[in-house]
Amino acid sequence: MNILFASSEAHPLIKTGGLADVSGSLPRAILNQHQDIRLIIPAYRQVLKQGNRVELAAYLDLPGVDEPVRILCGRLPGSKVVLYLVDSPAHFDREGNPYTMDDGDPWPDNALRFSVFCRAVHAIAVDAAGLGWRADIVHCNDWQTGLVPPMLAETPHSPASIFTIHNLAYQGLFDWDTFESLGLPLHWWSMEALEFHDQFSFIKGGLVFSDWLTTVSPTYAREIRTRTYGYGLEGLLNHRMDTLTGILNGVDYTVWNPGGDPHIPVPYNRRSLFHKAENKRALLERFGLPVKDAVPLFAIISRLVGQKGIDLVLEILPMLLQQGAQLVVLGSGDKLLEAALRKARTQNPESIGLHIGYDEPLAHHIEAGADVFLMPSRFEPCGLNQIYSLRYGTVPVVRRTGGLADTVVDTTAETLADKTATGFCFDTPAAPALWEAVERALHHYRAPERWQHLIETGMRQDFSWRRSAEHYIELYERVLTQRQPVTRQATTL
Ligand code: ADP
Ligand code: GLC
Repeated sequence: MNILFASSEAHPLIKTGGLADVSGSLPRAILNQHQDIRLIIPAYRQVLKQGNRVELAAYLDLPGVDEPVRILCGRLPGSKVVLYLVDSPAHFDREGNPYTMDDGDPWPDNALRFSVFCRAVHAIAVDAAGLGWRADIVHCNDWQTGLVPPMLAETPHSPASIFTIHNLAYQGLFDWDTFESLGLPLHWWSMEALEFHDQFSFIKGGLVFSDWLTTVSPTYAREIRTRTYGYGLEGLLNHRMDTLTGILNGVDYTVWNPGGDPHIPVPYNRRSLFHKAENKRALLERFGLPVKDAVPLFAIISRLVGQKGIDLVLEILPMLLQQGAQLVVLGSGDKLLEAALRKARTQNPESIGLHIGYDEPLAHHIEAGADVFLMPSRFEPCGLNQIYSLRYGTVPVVRRTGGLADTVVDTTAETLADKTATGFCFDTPAAPALWEAVERALHHYRAPERWQHLIETGMRQDFSWRRSAEHYIELYERVLTQRQPVTRQATTL
């Protein structure tokens, strides 16, 4: 099959979160299974600056864009995956984050930027760019690609589309004036299409018009059909339940492997776990914290946003520190959360290490050096850090939601006995429930033999991409054979 995989970020070219990890590794896993999958992302300044070899493959004249858009072609670094970059300098050649300005507010022209990206994806998919390659399937990811399925639906004999929801909280909502300014078909402004409570919704394009919807864990696929997690889209998602599947993300164990990780001081594996203690010591020194081997070191690596439940950690902090524990945090985002963490660090310089910012090598070192990983998310479509933590022998404490529920096995008398326990889970998104799970973790930490078992079981878990890639390929095949005539569906909407 010819598959065009469209995403707004892909590791190692550009990354703000887990979407980049997925887009940088799933296409590779699918290519390994002998499918012609090609990746397309915007040519952000940060991507071009890396100086990877690319060639000019085509010029596209797109409606509403003054200059022709250049399509550059290369390979995803470290792989054979063909990479297309949508080079439209007015929209993507700028400093900083792909979605937000320095103050954290969205770029004011985001609707235009990602509509240009969607138009380019559509053009490549149907070979309007004259590349001599046409997609059978277009695999879209998150709201930034949400206009591609409706564009395909307007095109006779178009490729099929899959839309993956990585996070329903980000929907790409804009007002009528913005919609009108983009020159999109006016009949899209309808409740059955892209209009959502008097706003223009990019994500609805994917949710309504794709042939199949996926999300990144089976539990999240169920959760988004409820009021609590559905953001008002649960009705639509329930309507589409027969074409909505949860496929758990994998992880790239060539990047996240304590046995061969260039970013950690001392490599280790299940049989040389004693080296983990050396990584812990080096990590404490890196953060200027006193080295105390017998004291548990908790860690957080996260975008600092409401989703991640960082406020719950701040609430339990006094109790955690009273137990003598230490904490290191790596993250950036919400200015109030950043300030609260800074204050906590200033008040507890012996116990808390903090790095506000984005630092990939440090993220690896933290995974290797910490004892316990905290992920008390209010919702978590999949979550990758808890899976990295398992492989690094860093026991996760997680809220039982989304992918966290699907990847971490709570420690109970039974799961200890049958040797399946890998972490600690709690249900209620509130500080007392988190504290109860943390207390259980502390209790087991003080029993070194039991702790060792937990670590070893975690390190044995295999969440490699191969299985998930197989699921996606099966789904692509199924969609192609059972294809609903989407064009007809679109006109009756
Ligand atoms: P999300 O996509 O919601 O942010 P995930 O757990 O799926 O959550 O993925 C987060 C990814 O981003 C992980 O690879 C994690 O290591 C990385 N990450 C998050 N914040 C930082 C940071 N401040 N520095 C380095 N890596 C980070
Ligand atoms: C989103 C989700 C996260 C998921 C990632 C990759 O950013 O918040 O849970 O792991 O996408 O699918």
